[in-house]
Amino acid sequence: MIKNDVKKLINAAAAARASAYAPYSKFRVGAAALCSDGSVYTGCNIENASYPCGICAERVAVSKAVSDGRTDIAAVAVVGSSSEKCTPCGLCRQFMYEFSPDMLVISCDKDGNSDEHTLYELLPHGFGGKSLK
Ligand code: THU
Repeated sequence: MIKNDVKKLINAAAAARASAYAPYSKFRVGAAALCSDGSVYTGCNIENASYPCGICAERVAVSKAVSDGRTDIAAVAVVGSSSEKCTPCGLCRQFMYEFSPDMLVISCDKDGNSDEHTLYELLPHGFGGKSLK
């Protein structure tokens, strides 16, 4: 991905973070998924008084893309709210692996400093839906 596209995706994720509903952890996260056709879907974390019901920003963004028929996801940017770069949790890694194991994951701190990995690097030998076919 070219630098400018990465920057745009990070900006979209940072903007989505503004909608985070995180009254319990106070840790606000935004994500943006870039699909192979160029469309971008954003998401934020949404917590719940029943803690396990909460959902991460990445799964919201990817679910929005998939529910619009876009399962081919080229990249996902995640922006957290601390000085540590926010990498997807294990559940999100598996969730995203289903669709595009080779997607680029751009993990950012609150100031937009970023690291890049393929999803396969973050979840080597993950369980893929293809194994069931
Ligand atoms: N969270 C995300 O949305 N994405 C991540 O990559 C890490 C964690 C959320 C879940 C919870 O609402 C809050 O951040 C604290 O864990």
